[in-house]
Amino acid sequence: MLIRTDRDGFQHPHASEITPRAVYEDRRQLLKWMATGVAGAALATWAQREALAQQVQRPGKLAPLTVVRSAVPGAVTMEKVTEYKDASTYNNFYEFGTDKSDPAQNAHTLKTKPWTVEVEGLVRKPAKYTLEDLMKMGAQEERIYRLRCVEGWSMVVPWVGFSLSKLVEKVEPLGNAKYVEFLTLADKATMPFVGSRVLDWPYAEGLRMDEAMHPLTLLTFGMYGEVLPNQNGAPVRLVVPWKYGFKSAKSIVKIRFTEQMPKTAWNKAAANEYGFYSNVNPEVDHPRWSQATERRIGEDGLFAKKRKTLMFNGYEPQVGQMYAGLDLKKNF
Ligand code: MTE
Repeated sequence: MLIRTDRDGFQHPHASEITPRAVYEDRRQLLKWMATGVAGAALATWAQREALAQQVQRPGKLAPLTVVRSAVPGAVTMEKVTEYKDASTYNNFYEFGTDKSDPAQNAHTLKTKPWTVEVEGLVRKPAKYTLEDLMKMGAQEERIYRLRCVEGWSMVVPWVGFSLSKLVEKVEPLGNAKYVEFLTLADKATMPFVGSRVLDWPYAEGLRMDEAMHPLTLLTFGMYGEVLPNQNGAPVRLVVPWKYGFKSAKSIVKIRFTEQMPKTAWNKAAANEYGFYSNVNPEVDHPRWSQATERRIGEDGLFAKKRKTLMFNGYEPQVGQMYAGLDLKKNF
């Protein structure tokens, strides 16, 4: 798999491509124009480009971020974006409770300032970054990703952040670093369910080095053009769009480079149900339910049809090659 990095020519979008908050075009109107057929090739190209900047609500609740459009292949899906009110009230963040509505109700106690992320293990340059320093490592890109939860629901969320590879390159992993482990905050004083037996705290996740370096793996600081609400993993989380949502660790405080495959919170809780890879795969069922279809949050009316789940959550063209030759039934 060829990974494009700054060194081999990957460029950030120019300042002229920065989309002002108020200038998001109405995507439906654009698509209507395109459908009339009068649009010549030039207009179609323009419309396609503009449609990529589909209308994203700016809820105006939290601090805004200056965002640029992402140039990473596959980083912007054209699917309808889930409403902010759904993406910020239907959450999994077990540190704040196990009901979907618990995090939105309880996570106001999370203290996100000051925040540091420690990077350690098999790297030449271990470091403790303040959130502010971390955020300066790259331009904040808007990535509109599908997020598929292992429980069978999905969302489309405009995340804001940059490729985790930027941070990885900065700390210079050693040759024997094969995996990256992510550890998240476990503070009993501010997280009411830390101490409960649901999981072994802190919440831990991991990626193989090539997965961590893949340009789609997003170190995430915001959504919908603003900083992350606490319930979505403020102030910094991961989003790995081709894997089940639980790989996307929230409120990260430590990133560790290891030679051994790290133990993950869900694998420790139920090894037969949650493997290390956890790539979205409609052909490999969860032992207790099928993974062939999904319910899109916001489409849950009486007659709403379930959608077919796509291999690697639809990101197969970008990530499939990383798993060539791997038995995905065994390595679920
Ligand atoms: N990170 C932490 N620290 N604790 C959690 O309980 N839940 C995971 C993941 N990250 C979780 C976490 C699960 S199961 C999912 S589906 C996603 O976060 C949900 O992210 P969202 O609430 O932003 O949609």
